[in-house]
Amino acid sequence: MEKLVITGGTPLKGSVKISGAKNAAVAILPATVLIKGKCHIENLPDISDIKLCCEILEYLGASVTYISGNEVEIDCTNINKTDVPFSMTKKFRASYYFIGALLSRFGKAEVGSPGGCNLGVRPIDQHIKGFEAMGAKVEIEGGIIKAYSPFGKLHGDNVYLDIVSVGATMNIMLSAVLADGTTVIENAAKEPHIVDLANFLNTMGANIKGAGTDVIKITGVESLNRSASYSIVPDQIEAGTFMIAAAASRGDVTITNCITTHLSPISAKLIEMGVSIEESDDGEQIRVYCPNRTTKANIKTLPYPGFPTDMQPQAAVLLSVSEGTSYLTESVWDSRFQYTEELKRMGANIRVEGKTACIEGVDHLNACPVNATDLRAGAAMIIAGIIAEGDTEIHSIEHIDRGYEKFEEKFQKLGAKIKRVMEEE
Ligand code: EPU
Repeated sequence: MEKLVITGGTPLKGSVKISGAKNAAVAILPATVLIKGKCHIENLPDISDIKLCCEILEYLGASVTYISGNEVEIDCTNINKTDVPFSMTKKFRASYYFIGALLSRFGKAEVGSPGGCNLGVRPIDQHIKGFEAMGAKVEIEGGIIKAYSPFGKLHGDNVYLDIVSVGATMNIMLSAVLADGTTVIENAAKEPHIVDLANFLNTMGANIKGAGTDVIKITGVESLNRSASYSIVPDQIEAGTFMIAAAASRGDVTITNCITTHLSPISAKLIEMGVSIEESDDGEQIRVYCPNRTTKANIKTLPYPGFPTDMQPQAAVLLSVSEGTSYLTESVWDSRFQYTEELKRMGANIRVEGKTACIEGVDHLNACPVNATDLRAGAAMIIAGIIAEGDTEIHSIEHIDRGYEKFEEKFQKLGAKIKRVMEEE
């Protein structure tokens, strides 16, 4: 077991390169199941969730060759299994994309229930509604999701999502790619990773239109068998995390290999709080600098293009040291405020009532041992440690390793005093 130790008080300065998007990559790797041929995938983040995806592909019979930590060649021609055991799926959320992909290619899938961060109840009823609309029968038995198509191929249909869901949108897209006829997903999610999955599938010969809007139309094709290369979109949340870290530490950071339009909801809030933002003309770099204390803001998380829920804990750290009283409302997940107890021990003044946290800005945070209660909470603890007075220890950092590539190295390059050490017995 390892922990991070951070000596706070250094403003972050310099430039940082953003990795490929976790939440795009964890859907694109299962999507390779649909392709009888070689896929060359670049700009993959080197994180544990990606390794788990590749282990599942190998278990299914695919050949997976790592060219580097960020580049892989996958050949799913000889996949010969349609089940994924719970021991593999329980380790991360996105394992549920193997249901849509296996169902689409083989007409059946038996996939263990997904794991992932504890953010309250995480149902998959909308995924199932989509599969059933396309003719699949779905049962959940002993923690295994069993889906099969009694008449061979799935058939296209209209699916109206009752709730905007990233996972359901992508899973239904995967299951519809090889179906007979056309599937229309209404009230679809619009996140950049939805567009990235559609771009990947279209590169491989799928026929998907409207990704990035709330109506996505997928016309089934006979097969996807082109071998092709694809580069994963930059990670919006990693970029946003460094933006907030730059502002909170009153630093000056240039973030490269990002897509600035994906960052607009975050930039807009930071500007409102007094942070200076400069975007490069090519839309691939953003400079964030903030010599002065930020001021209060009210933030409500929403599906894209709203303020991302995956930036909510990081934003709470910044609001904790901003002047005035801020309100932070979570409207995507039932329970995403566990980390506030850790921040309170560092001196933050936060009161959570239902889905809203009322945050009274304090002068500074104080170091103390804290836990990374989930992935984004872990990122928030790092930012808190960087700005706190004294040495902060962060435990349970395996959550952070699931989703951020070489995170402490990137912070070290920006001047943060952060190191990874073994936990004492
Ligand atoms: N929901 C349902 N039924 C469903 C699916 C979702 O009620 O069938 C509800 C959820 O309970 C939640 C809301 O709909 O209240 C949105 O859930 P969504 O399906 O969009 O979330 P997800 O696909 O499980 C992905 C990301 C999360 C991110 C959310 C929202 C992946 C692997 N995970 O989860 O990322 O918070 O979208 O943007 O893509 C993270 O990266 O730290 C993370 C938690």
